[in-house]
Amino acid sequence: MTNTVILPGPKARQEREIDPTLDLLAEIGRLKRERNAVILAHYYQDGEIQDLADFVGDSLDLSRKAAATDADVIVFCGVRFMGEVAKILSPQKLVLIPDAEAGCSLEDGCKVEDFLRMRKRYPDHVALTYINCSAEVKAASDIIVTSSNAETIIRSLPDEQPILFAPDRHLGAYLKRKTGRENMVLWPGTCIIHEQFSERELIKLKTLHPKAKVAAHPECPEAILKHADHIGSTRGLLDFVLKSEANDFIIATEKHIIHQMEKAAPHKTFIAAPGADGSCDCARCPFMALNTLEKIYLALLNDAPRIELPEDLRLAALKPLQRMMELSSAIPLAAPVPHAAQ
Ligand code: 13P
Repeated sequence: MTNTVILPGPKARQEREIDPTLDLLAEIGRLKRERNAVILAHYYQDGEIQDLADFVGDSLDLSRKAAATDADVIVFCGVRFMGEVAKILSPQKLVLIPDAEAGCSLEDGCKVEDFLRMRKRYPDHVALTYINCSAEVKAASDIIVTSSNAETIIRSLPDEQPILFAPDRHLGAYLKRKTGRENMVLWPGTCIIHEQFSERELIKLKTLHPKAKVAAHPECPEAILKHADHIGSTRGLLDFVLKSEANDFIIATEKHIIHQMEKAAPHKTFIAAPGADGSCDCARCPFMALNTLEKIYLALLNDAPRIELPEDLRLAALKPLQRMMELSSAIPLAAPVPHAAQ
């Protein structure tokens, strides 16, 4: 873990001290109003956290919301690097995360010392780095990308410009195929969730549901992506299933995105893509799952865990994030998802 998370102090309230009869939703609402706080949540969060959030989005839209909010406090329900991005973009805000241990396998697989060594090996390459990385790796990069703007940003670079793409090799390989760009060197990292979908089980599932469309996140390996009817960021997958005339979908990404899909289109059927044992519970990110209503409540009470970054690191990481924002300014912020009447 980086040293950017300030943990609750010795006097902080603990989970075991929470009165089990407490109306957590009401208490979080009260603290939010008192603190002028906003709750931002990624689509991979548990349904009850998505429902509580003021804004639910993909990595790009959440970054934009964090940069633009006029709240004094941001409670970022996602994983740690997302909270770091919020702090880098909004340094004057208090940025709280429910659980300091909510990491990311892509971030863990790309240590800054190794990344700098790789940069030295490819001095002419522009370092295009997926947002799923530490603040230190961001600071050592040229441009940050997310799954929704990476293709646009790559296409904005001159054809002859070589690229070092880190840390997701499946996303990088997908972008190479999509843009036809040969001069891209890929860092060998993967996401533990997208990595474990099984092509064999997916084919079996498609046979059982012959009309189902497959919607896949580009962090999936090519063996899964080649069966996809649509490939996109979490927000892109949501838009696809809502606009499609099909009724059945197999969703190859972290399964909690299905919560928004079912809320917006309750008449459609969404099936989580299977892992190697044929079960679908493996499509659950253990890091995202660390966040709970209790921890959101405690974070607001304790002002911790909170993100704090040394200013030189923040400024260095801000530069490639600002380039990302500039280069994706033509991509509109997603409209709110229309929800069916409850
Ligand atoms: P998006 O939010 O860009 O869809 O990416 C998903 C992800 O990897 C979150 O960690």
